[in-house]
Amino acid sequence: QKGAYPYYMLKEIDEQPGVMRNLIKEYIAADGSIKIDQDLLKEMSAADRLYIVAAGTSYHAGLVGKELFEKLVKVPTEVHVASEFGYNTPLLSKKPFFIFLTQSGETADSRQVLAQVNKDGYPSLTITNVMNSTLSREATYTLLLYAGPEIAVASTKAYTGQIALEAILAKALGVHNNVPTIKDFDVAGELTKAANGMQELVDEKSEIEKIAAALLKDTRNAFYIGRAMDYAIVQEAALKLKEVSYIQTEGFASGELKHGTIALIQENTPVIAIITDKRTAAHTRSNAQEVKARGANILYIASREVATPTDQIVLPEITPLLSALVAIVPAQLLAYYASIQRGYDVDKPRNLAKSVTVE
Ligand code: F6R
Repeated sequence: QKGAYPYYMLKEIDEQPGVMRNLIKEYIAADGSIKIDQDLLKEMSAADRLYIVAAGTSYHAGLVGKELFEKLVKVPTEVHVASEFGYNTPLLSKKPFFIFLTQSGETADSRQVLAQVNKDGYPSLTITNVMNSTLSREATYTLLLYAGPEIAVASTKAYTGQIALEAILAKALGVHNNVPTIKDFDVAGELTKAANGMQELVDEKSEIEKIAAALLKDTRNAFYIGRAMDYAIVQEAALKLKEVSYIQTEGFASGELKHGTIALIQENTPVIAIITDKRTAAHTRSNAQEVKARGANILYIASREVATPTDQIVLPEITPLLSALVAIVPAQLLAYYASIQRGYDVDKPRNLAKSVTVE
């Protein structure tokens, strides 16, 4: 039931702080230990490489997962688009472990990869929002998102739920593997910060509504730019905006823009820079200035730590590894408002279905 909300998408954006709290409740005990099946951790720790396979928004959650598993657990991790994996199969390591990220648990592209993985006898985990879904039943292990049904076609709370659960899993695996630095990663504390930060952002949605009206009205195209972790985030931000507003949007590695795509920048082209990483902040700002000099309208979404006084959206504090959890919220809201300001049914974008059961 969407209750007082005009659309499910807005309700689901608002539910994200609750999704973080549910995940803490389901997976983290009062003493900080993680409640995840030891057999799963044992199999993951025996693997020499993790392969995350997913589609669309779940693929974008996988891009963040790669950073979490590599930085926190030091285990090499690859992320693959499910529909490409079968035909463009990477050379697998000796002991691969597969992680399927899927809100619905029914995506045909991912199912087809899992069928092959099972045939080859490799262990697998499905992270999904739907208990007893096909990918859940067919994988060796399942972890549930406990996000409540996601009704809007555009995925929001499943994305942040998947990232949070990947962080919990990375923590558990790091502890299991005795990674010395893992004790510095307070996953419950960080997810609590994420919940509070998300709440701050959704409470300011009327500001974002105004920004959407000023920046995105009438435009045919737009860009999101970022580097490193912010590049992973902008790919999801761009997908959200394009799928519900039909504004053609690209999420670009900001350093790559000048190698061709900058030719598309014209007077008033919206360019949204997401900056959450100290190491890349100065470079992304200079890339934004390059496009501003060619007429682009720039919107800065920056973490408090790296923000300047003129940045329009400032993000609450969180570890840079989990900045996606807060940075995506204004992007989801921009997409939502851009869509309704154009008079569209934001919950049911044209040509799209909630779960894609054909390859
Ligand atoms: C975008 C969106 C899709 C899905 C994709 C995978 O907002 O919802 O890109 O993320 O179709 O779906 P699941 O996660 O159900 O496998």
